[in-house]
Amino acid sequence: MKAAIIRDYEADVEITEVEKPALVDDSVIVEVHAASLNPIDNILRAGYLRHMLELNFPHVMGYDVSGVVVEVGNKVKNIKVGDAVLARPNQQDAGAVAEFARLKEDELSVKPEGVSHVQAASIPLAGLTAWQALITHGHIKSNDKVLIHAGSGGVGTLAIQIAKHVGAFVATTTSSKNADLVRRLGADLVIDYETEKFQEKLSEYDMVFDMLGGDSIAESFKVLRKGGALISIKGEDTENLATEYGVRFLNFFMQPNGKMLSELVALIDSGSIEPVIDTIYPFEQVANAYEQLASGRAVGKIIVSMK
Ligand SMILES: NC(=O)c1ccc[n+]([C@@H]2O[C@H](COP(=O)([O-])OP(=O)(O)OC[C@H]3O[C@@H](n4cnc5c(N)ncnc54)[C@H](OP(=O)(O)O)[C@@H]3O)[C@@H](O)[C@H]2O)c1
Repeated sequence: MKAAIIRDYEADVEITEVEKPALVDDSVIVEVHAASLNPIDNILRAGYLRHMLELNFPHVMGYDVSGVVVEVGNKVKNIKVGDAVLARPNQQDAGAVAEFARLKEDELSVKPEGVSHVQAASIPLAGLTAWQALITHGHIKSNDKVLIHAGSGGVGTLAIQIAKHVGAFVATTTSSKNADLVRRLGADLVIDYETEKFQEKLSEYDMVFDMLGGDSIAESFKVLRKGGALISIKGEDTENLATEYGVRFLNFFMQPNGKMLSELVALIDSGSIEPVIDTIYPFEQVANAYEQLASGRAVGKIIVSMK
């Protein structure tokens, strides 16, 4: 099959022929219709996480898949050939920007008809991350005050909407060019990080969702109430600061979860959450898609369409 691969760390992304993933008992093979990119793809490509996760080359790029099932493993119970599904698979099954991908049944969700493959591919990694940060780890509830950093990004655009769905009051940081978008997504208070300091405008917040790391974490402690929570996906160990401010701190890596993904995609199907797509690239232009991702300026998600 054709796939977008790298041959080494720091190498360019190229399209080449690789072996199709083999079917295993608890999994399905899907023909990929759309894939979405995430910063982790470029972080792995650069070799920054080599100490934790050594890649095998050629390495097929990408995590987020939406496609149609073409083969079904012996132990798969509820999925059949022809079903449209989406997933952020585990590390072993990673390799989304390809003609075919292998997905475990418990890591995928059926795609509702009202959600397109492009929209579906935009959801899994960013959506599960936002859901796990706010709900699984942040325990947010109605009327909580929540600060979401980088509200215009892939994770941020979904996080704002999930927090609003729960009934929270949402503040977010963004640059002025994206202020209207984050307001439209439901943000109650928009802070332009180029001209304003969030730590001078906010206080007594119940939760901060950080995805910037560094100074953003250190300053975010200041806006929390005692007993509040700082949940980060970009964090370093800041337990000392957490103790000093009397708040809970957690840095976590998102986990694949088909059931959670089904709940999330149902909210998209019902119109409660709107996927935000920056650009759709045809497969042949996948290298350009990765270049845009590297700019760090995407508004919502970057998609590679395989069909
Ligand atoms: N631990 C995990 O499991 C996990 C999971 C997912 C993501 N992550 C990490 O979380 C981060 C965000 O991921 P993502 O997919 O949302 O990235 P993304 O889509 O590439 O984020 C791009 C957005 O970030 C905004 N931004 C950049 N600098 C900012 C700043 N100083 N203040 C506010 N907004 C800023 C940009 O808006 P402007 O153009 O307006 O600046 C842009 O819209 C990445 O570093 C990623 O690696 C971790």
